[in-house]
Amino acid sequence: MEGMMKILVIHGPNLVLLGTREPEVYGTTTLSEINKKIQDLAKEEGVEVKIVQTNHEGKIVEEISNSKEDVLVINPAAYTHTSVAIRDAIVARKIPTVEVHLSNIYAREEFRHKSLIAPVAIGQISGFGVDSYLLGLKAALSYLKKK
Ligand code: DQA
Repeated sequence: MEGMMKILVIHGPNLVLLGTREPEVYGTTTLSEINKKIQDLAKEEGVEVKIVQTNHEGKIVEEISNSKEDVLVINPAAYTHTSVAIRDAIVARKIPTVEVHLSNIYAREEFRHKSLIAPVAIGQISGFGVDSYLLGLKAALSYLKKK
């Protein structure tokens, strides 16, 4: 792939509360600290990153539809388990997607075991806390470099 690669990172609903939200599940790192780590890694890897957080499903759909980036790293949060609309947006835009979760969704309540996004993603990283995002970014880059 030619030129500087661009990555879109989307944080879904309630992730703005990270740091104080169920710290026993999600840790104590805040969203701005996570974003700083993502930016640092992007700089190190020589890629451009755009980061969005929203609680609104339709806004996520629009961000994906209007995206100009080469790859998407998304934590769809609760919409993971419910959103046909986000899944359809990924398919329509044909954007290669890495799904990430801070917690291991398969070790939690049964309703979290199903992801509507995973079948249309390249793959999923779940359970590594903040590192899920950094591993997700690396996975996205390694996918792009092989293309
Ligand atoms: C989450 C897991 C989801 O089940 C939950 O609704 C979230 C966060 C995670 O990162 O572990 O909000 O996506």
